[in-house]
Amino acid sequence: MNHKLTICCGTTCYLAAGDRIDRLEQLISDNFDIKIDVVPSACLGQCMKHQGQPPFARFDGKIISNATNENIINTIKKSF
Ligand code: FES
Repeated sequence: MNHKLTICCGTTCYLAAGDRIDRLEQLISDNFDIKIDVVPSACLGQCMKHQGQPPFARFDGKIISNATNENIINTIKKSF
């Protein structure tokens, strides 16, 4: 089974984080032996709920708030 990491590229998240997908793909390959698809997305809808802090991402259906590269890697590690 492939795992899926969705990176929000909506305006709010983009302004909070900038373009981070290239660096993320490298970090993921450095940290994990499993296949994780990294997919950009339009707004995930989280910024409108005012729950959590942008930028947002989603890993296998779980929303990640304050999705810095470090937080994303740590969240994925905790998922296994
Ligand atoms: S712009 Fe990222 S959740 Fe809306």
